[in-house]
Amino acid sequence: MYAEFDDTLITGNEMIDSQHRELIGRINELLRSCEEQADRMAAMKMLNYLADYTEFHFKAEEELQESIGYPGIKEHKEKHEELRRTVAELHEMLEEQEGPSDEFVEAVNKNVTEWLYYHIKGFDRSVAEYKFMRDNQERL
Ligand SMILES: [Fe+2]
Repeated sequence: MYAEFDDTLITGNEMIDSQHRELIGRINELLRSCEEQADRMAAMKMLNYLADYTEFHFKAEEELQESIGYPGIKEHKEKHEELRRTVAELHEMLEEQEGPSDEFVEAVNKNVTEWLYYHIKGFDRSVAEYKFMRDNQERL
């Protein structure tokens, strides 16, 4: 089951949306590496590749929230921590297992892909809306 960026994931903020597209692409590359090679090192490499971009993206999103004085930033940062912990757990799974198991793939689907969908639709959309309202305050 590959992840897919569809219209329901659009927040309306161009930076956030384009970074989410890239994130989903990297999730799929991880899933593909599990499917095609089922090789631990290949999966590890793609997990790191995903982790790198996750860091970049979270930092950008948190900086944006700071710059607009977003009131929900503390809670939002805690959510980002959740995914960071998941990535660390996935790392441990790969270290303990021979290759990426079905259990590993299931954890990616549930704790990364589904987590992200839910996070985008609630938390990220609310940031984008707040920024939009703030930018258009004078005109509304
Ligand atoms: Fe976020």
